[in-house]
Amino acid sequence: MKIIQISHLKKSFQNKIILKDMCLEIEEGECFGCIGPSGAGKTTLVKIMIGQLDADHGKCLVFNEDSRHLSFQAYEKIGLVLDEQGLYERLSVFDNLKLFADLHRIESKRIHEVLKRVDLNEEADKKVFRLSKGMRQRLVLARAILHKPRLLFLDEPTSALDPGSMHLIHELLLELKREKVSIFLTTHNMQEAMLLCDRIGLLYEGCMIEEGRIEDIVEKYHENLDLQIELTNHDILNLNGQKEADKICHYLKEEKVLKIHSNEPTLEDIFKKLTGKRLDV
Ligand SMILES: Nc1ncnc2c1ncn2[C@@H]1O[C@H](COP(=O)(O)OP(=O)(O)O)[C@@H](O)[C@H]1O
Ligand SMILES: [Mg+2]
Repeated sequence: MKIIQISHLKKSFQNKIILKDMCLEIEEGECFGCIGPSGAGKTTLVKIMIGQLDADHGKCLVFNEDSRHLSFQAYEKIGLVLDEQGLYERLSVFDNLKLFADLHRIESKRIHEVLKRVDLNEEADKKVFRLSKGMRQRLVLARAILHKPRLLFLDEPTSALDPGSMHLIHELLLELKREKVSIFLTTHNMQEAMLLCDRIGLLYEGCMIEEGRIEDIVEKYHENLDLQIELTNHDILNLNGQKEADKICHYLKEEKVLKIHSNEPTLEDIFKKLTGKRLDV
């Protein structure tokens, strides 16, 4: 089943085109990574999908419902992590979740369960303004999963976080993936995309300029079969896998090969090749 269906979506702000003719489908249980530099329109796209912004043209269906009029039942199945955190600074960690839990008629037992999952159980009574950035983000994520959503929108959930919090969030997201929660993630962290995403889309100038499984995209742009070979005497050779296959075989038969690296392009390389721009600016 398709959980998100976007067709020919367009959005402009003051005559500046942000999204143009965007089409995208996401399957239930899939983790899709929307990758693009700052200002590409990732947050705009998320806001359209959750009904916070209207598109100018096109269609966006979430759970088969028009995203401009999502039902209460649809929102109950959605979890959200956006840039603006919307935490109550002067309330404790627990009370921030309790407010949300009461709205959804969730028992306090579940709050403790989720706090444990994001490793904030010892921080439960701490006021939010005393939390580190990583802890705050884990609390936002805790709130997003409290009601056991089936679809998570995560807008740059780990950007500028300490490695510990990032690792914890990644572990949690991998666990949610195993529970078949669908995830729409935006990021410009390629490692994150490789770790979590079943499929990615590269967003640039309003369109997905490339889309698919990371392995397939890398293979598509892996043009030459250059191999870097380290010999047992630690000499490094750069050889072409097609043209110099005999030479490579020779070293292998003589047991002189210590390591072989294929020089596959990274997603950053591919983005640069397609756009002439870097992803992380
Ligand atoms: N409410 C708005 N009004 C005017 N321009 C906006 C608004 N929201 C976003 N933009 C512009 O749209 C572009 C895309 O923004 P955004 O979706 O936040 O990109 P990203 O999340 O990929 O960094 C940016 O140029 C931004 O300045
Ligand atoms: Mg953004």
